[in-house]
Amino acid sequence: MAKSVEQLTADRVRTVPFSGIRKVFEAVRAMEAEGRDVIHWQIGRPDFDTPEHIKRAAAAALERGEVHYAPNLGIPSLRKAIAERTRLDTGVSVDWQKQVIVMSGANEGIMVAMLAFVDPGDEVLVADPNWHHYKSCAALAGGRAVEVPTRAEASFSLEPEAVASRITGRTKMLCITSPGNPTGCVESRTNLKALADLARKNDLLVLMDQIYNRIYYGEEEIAPSIFSLEGMPERTIIVNGFSKTYSMDGWRLGWTVASPELTQALLKVRQYTTVCVNTFIQHGAAEALNGDQTCVDEMVGAFAERRQIIVDGLKGIDGVALAEPTGAFYAFPDIRSFGKSSAELADYLLREHGIATVAGSVFGTAGEGHLRIAYSCSTDECRRGIDRLREALTRLRG
Ligand SMILES: Cc1ncc(COP(=O)(O)O)c(C=O)c1O
Repeated sequence: MAKSVEQLTADRVRTVPFSGIRKVFEAVRAMEAEGRDVIHWQIGRPDFDTPEHIKRAAAAALERGEVHYAPNLGIPSLRKAIAERTRLDTGVSVDWQKQVIVMSGANEGIMVAMLAFVDPGDEVLVADPNWHHYKSCAALAGGRAVEVPTRAEASFSLEPEAVASRITGRTKMLCITSPGNPTGCVESRTNLKALADLARKNDLLVLMDQIYNRIYYGEEEIAPSIFSLEGMPERTIIVNGFSKTYSMDGWRLGWTVASPELTQALLKVRQYTTVCVNTFIQHGAAEALNGDQTCVDEMVGAFAERRQIIVDGLKGIDGVALAEPTGAFYAFPDIRSFGKSSAELADYLLREHGIATVAGSVFGTAGEGHLRIAYSCSTDECRRGIDRLREALTRLRG
């Protein structure tokens, strides 16, 4: 070929980086292959098996021969269950036939939403620090992510003034992740109200990623959603999924909920991408939502215990500050007092002490000076990790 692959690669792809989290994942794998013992705080993936009744429902569907294309939107029983879940999560009734699409993970929901609504040159507001997918998906759709810096002192919430000052004539969408990744912080109802006012006033779409909404340690059972607020169901695309709540990340299953009109645009993209999600696994997902929810309570209970170990442990280490996480399974401690960049510190912890974290800078400029700890590993590993971290940081100071 006369042209290099670099030259052949589309501009929108060239500018998008590979995931910084995956890079840590690969480094850990290489260390383990050499026999090193590593604390797995690098990836937000529950350590539980998928509950048995869910696996059985998918296996039974496969046995029955549910092996052909499903409707583009998803099988009816699952869409009905998602509509009911949305009512429980947000208090808003949605039409399962017109407002729900089963996606191959929340990730597909995000990409499809960007392709459906973001034109070249459009701006998409994302919190900084944040999970990088919104930025990359917006760029792959030809748009431009505009980062809104957040502050630990404000629990990393999207402060309305900071959002308002970045809205231009090209702003199309505001992305909200609550509970958040990498911070574990949750947008309050009051803050969501102010963001909803901004969205209505400036005619913005809102992508509400609430994949961690049931992994919440607040007073209510479920973290609040902007979809619940007046005038928001018509401009909000909810993204949610099974990976975290039901420990089904390898199944690749999620969903979008949006107005019938927005759903039509999402559906058009879906028809030309994955067409539909694997049919038999959708039956497992329907069982996840319709079946006994004790498994969710148990897993969230285990995350709550781990959270306490991590929060108490971090608070007990000299020089570490923490905006207390109230959702998901992430903590985002401030490590600036150790005099290293987040990348240097993450590297030191991994190479010299076998503790895998992700440097805060991977999540945006405002993430610098922090580390992401994903406490989705076992309770015992969390305890061992805190002991190891205390020793590593004490040695660094010493
Ligand atoms: C905020 C957020 N949304 C979505 C996802 C991905 O979800 P899924 O596995 O359903 O694609 C993740 C995974 O880490 C996440 O942190």
